[in-house]
Amino acid sequence: MRYGYFDDKTREYVITRPDTPLPWFNYLGCEEYFGLISHTAGGYSFYKDARLRRLIRYRYNNAPMDIGGRYIYLRDKATGTYWSPTWMPVRRQLDTFTCRHGIGTTTIASTFVGISAEVLYFVPMGQNLEIWRLRVKNLRDTPANLMSFASVEFCLWDANDDATNFQRNYNVGEVEVLDNVIYHKTEYRERRNHFAYFTSSAPMKAFDTQRENFLGVFNGWDSPQAVAKGACSNSIAHGWAPVGVIQSELILAPGEEREVIFLLGYMENPNEEKFEDQAKQVINKSRALPLIKQFTQAGEVQSALENLHHYWDALFSRFQVTTPDEHANRMINIWNAYQCMVTFNMSRSASGFETGIGRGMGFRDSTQDLFGFVHMVPERARQRLLDIAATQLETGGAYHQYQPLTKRGNDAVGSNFNDDPLWLILSVCAYIKETGDRGVLDELVSYDSKPGSEQPLYEHLQRAIQYILERTGPHGLPLIGRADWNDCLNLNCFSSEPGESFQTTTGKDGKVAESVFIGGMLVLAAHEMAELADYLGNKKDVDFYNKVAADMEPIVTSHGWDGEWFRRAYDDYGNPVGSATCKEGQIFIEPQGMCVMAGIGLKDGKAEKALQSVEKRLATEHGIVVNNPGYTQYYLHLGEISSYPPGYKENGSVFCHTNPWIMISETKLGHGDKAFDYYKRICPSVREAISEVHRTEPYVYAQTIAGKEAPTKGEAKNSWLTGTAAWNFVAITQYILGIRPTFTGLSVQPVFPESWKEVTASRLFRDVKYDIHIQRVGPGNAVETFVEGRKIETPVIPLPPPGTACVKVEVKVGSPK
Ligand code: BGC
Ligand code: NOJ
Repeated sequence: MRYGYFDDKTREYVITRPDTPLPWFNYLGCEEYFGLISHTAGGYSFYKDARLRRLIRYRYNNAPMDIGGRYIYLRDKATGTYWSPTWMPVRRQLDTFTCRHGIGTTTIASTFVGISAEVLYFVPMGQNLEIWRLRVKNLRDTPANLMSFASVEFCLWDANDDATNFQRNYNVGEVEVLDNVIYHKTEYRERRNHFAYFTSSAPMKAFDTQRENFLGVFNGWDSPQAVAKGACSNSIAHGWAPVGVIQSELILAPGEEREVIFLLGYMENPNEEKFEDQAKQVINKSRALPLIKQFTQAGEVQSALENLHHYWDALFSRFQVTTPDEHANRMINIWNAYQCMVTFNMSRSASGFETGIGRGMGFRDSTQDLFGFVHMVPERARQRLLDIAATQLETGGAYHQYQPLTKRGNDAVGSNFNDDPLWLILSVCAYIKETGDRGVLDELVSYDSKPGSEQPLYEHLQRAIQYILERTGPHGLPLIGRADWNDCLNLNCFSSEPGESFQTTTGKDGKVAESVFIGGMLVLAAHEMAELADYLGNKKDVDFYNKVAADMEPIVTSHGWDGEWFRRAYDDYGNPVGSATCKEGQIFIEPQGMCVMAGIGLKDGKAEKALQSVEKRLATEHGIVVNNPGYTQYYLHLGEISSYPPGYKENGSVFCHTNPWIMISETKLGHGDKAFDYYKRICPSVREAISEVHRTEPYVYAQTIAGKEAPTKGEAKNSWLTGTAAWNFVAITQYILGIRPTFTGLSVQPVFPESWKEVTASRLFRDVKYDIHIQRVGPGNAVETFVEGRKIETPVIPLPPPGTACVKVEVKVGSPK
């Protein structure tokens, strides 16, 4: 069942009824000011840091789930009837409802009692403010006398404190109302120097800034007493809960439409003004006024909207495809690319499932996210890599997380997730393949953010490999440390309480648990290093890294092989995890994907066997589950993985991040149909048709889909902020379509379904536009490549002479060799 439809032309998902299975979110802003917005106008905004600079208050784990946000009420004076054109929070049955979630814009429209209303929300490029553009039209043949109330509940900036420290924060709230603007200036009194403003293009008839005056102490947002009465009381907040409510009058002749613009903005005074202003306890409002003047004008709003569209056009136009499959087209051209940019901006911080106060940026997460956005924002990707590398430790290991505001490693979470450093290699190589910018390797980057410790980025990569080589266990496999990719497989972390995965106490008699997954990953990363060294002309390192891979490979294929598939690990007692000999957790997806991606077992049939086992034991109609059978009880020696009931999260769900590893692996074996079949099983656009089962947004990937052992199989959770976005983008574009950046040029080597006859793509690569036309001429995956009509002997297109704007590429797939 569907709750809307895709409008590919406008790049929107159009939700046609408000009662979706869950609140369906979108994001606003793509630079420093961000917001989350649900399809019924719930959500919040923040400047740079979702925890420390939050503008709008939002209460997680609420009932209803999504309450609080950017609400507008309309009230008809003649009858006293009031409603929200966004449905929430009043939830009056509307005559029509649509929410168009677009790329950085959300437009919610409805009609009720002969009044149509539309609210467009977006953040203009280059600004730290959000625009709510309300358009109200009188469809009646009599005049309408309406009142609008636009509301926001202010967060007292630090969202964590705001939600917990009431003995203090009921006393600190301060506002000021001047010349049609409500200023929220809590914290201004202290050393901080930021404030928020809320204003409107229409004159305020009245306002409220104290929540209880607006709502009433015992009312919710669904029935504010001021709206019921039709009048705000010009309250000024002194402590308690500051809000911004702007009441305006809308008297509309029959057929008349009126536009009112609301602005919510963030402002900082520059440091030099700080102390003087603070002494005076006043806000330097003059800084906000020019922006307010500009963005309360309809023409300015319209051109800011167009600018925003142009920005996204430019990003997306770097890679556009036409395949025979509408789902793949829609995901690659619009939604998957968009989700990759959102993960770039948010990492794992703020979503419907991440509160914005929990995690910083993950070392492993952000390095992988880069695969999905590096072609869109290469310069920003470069900076991101340098920031991440600076949190690497001198040992070559890495802090598991770092804080975006300070860019320092997070001590509370610490290090020793032993796969972490290897992701840096894959990420830096992806960046150089995309850009050819080998100079990045000479950038001096510190370790642990310590001044004086700077070394070239290349050395950081070398130390990452060294870190693994210095930490191998009894079978010669890499030690897993606190966990590898699977954060919850805590083989050395005997936690005192189930679920406390990050609490390390000493294992049995030392930490000897080993990871087959990291073994495979080391082979992959060492191959990458060897290729990189080759590109740099460093023969010695080519040999060294080839040897690293060659030494690890037989260890993986002996101790890491179970007979029908790759084992997952060895626990601290030396027993295999992910083996047919285990009672539960006999087979795991991660080593199958990682080892085959690393090229292990391609020649001796192991890869083929492993993937057959994946299909037999793990694949379901909703995607491929992470392990099977799921653990039915808690095991101290396995840790958090077994804290989840079978079928959920790391214990037997379809952990979508890992599925593309299998898609890629299938392409390595030449199985285009199988790879694309797996792609479609978890593809949001395909699953849109079963939205009542899937439940999360049909336009973006979720982290997990409940697995075959779960009572709610097929139900997705934790949408938006997941490494799934980047990896699916890589699987479909680089492996199934086969359009893959390499150090020496763009390679086109598709492994797509037999039934596909033709694919076209336009890809910007190192400032050259590649017009790619792929045609199937026969079965199989052998390719013949023509550049500007001339046949070339490799699938890698040589870089054209400098100054070339466009290259035409013809690829014939299934050519008889
Ligand atoms: C979740 C994991 C996550 C980890 C780190 C765990 O509770 O299940 O998916 O990686 O926390 O935040
Ligand atoms: C989510 C985490 O952000 C990611 O780093 C991890 O690999 C997966 N969960 C699996 O545990």
